[in-house]
Amino acid sequence: MTNPKQGSVAIYPGSFDPITYGHLDLIERGSRLFQRLIVAILSNDAKEPLFTVAERMEMLAQAVKDYPNVEVDSFGGLLVDYAAARGATALMRGIRAISDYEYELQMALMNRRLRPEIETVFLMAGEAYSFISSRLVKQVIGLGGNISGLVPPLVEARLRDRLLGGKKS
Ligand code: PNS
Repeated sequence: MTNPKQGSVAIYPGSFDPITYGHLDLIERGSRLFQRLIVAILSNDAKEPLFTVAERMEMLAQAVKDYPNVEVDSFGGLLVDYAAARGATALMRGIRAISDYEYELQMALMNRRLRPEIETVFLMAGEAYSFISSRLVKQVIGLGGNISGLVPPLVEARLRDRLLGGKKS
């Protein structure tokens, strides 16, 4: 049987503002499914990010350093054009709950309409991570709550610096 991973390149796109253990759980799963996984940060996001693209790339690169087939990059413009330029045949997205489904379905179908040859693949994060989002993590730490175990230690330190001026909770 041929190896299904052979030659397969997938893009895992997102804002990653900042990376959480939920994202990392998906990256680990994706690194086992695809020969190469490119984690790509959207650079021209209309949302006001907390961290610059360079800061997010640095945190991601640190978090994925033990996965030799995972690369970190940024992109602008249409995701499917970026994916085609990188030789990817799949887009990887995570689904936590049914509430994610509608938005993800819309994007997947639009991307399919734009480039039918690129498939969107959905993975479920582990149950332990299904409630984590970058938005809630920022809110909780900003209000003095404990976020240990939800993001890597480096990310927690960066969040503390940015939102609390380095204060411990
Ligand atoms: O982590 P996010 O914010 O849910 O990620 C959203 C992202 C980056 C995947 C999405 O906004 C995107 O792909 N943007 C690029 C623009 C694009 O291709 N739009 C048309 C297809 S929906």
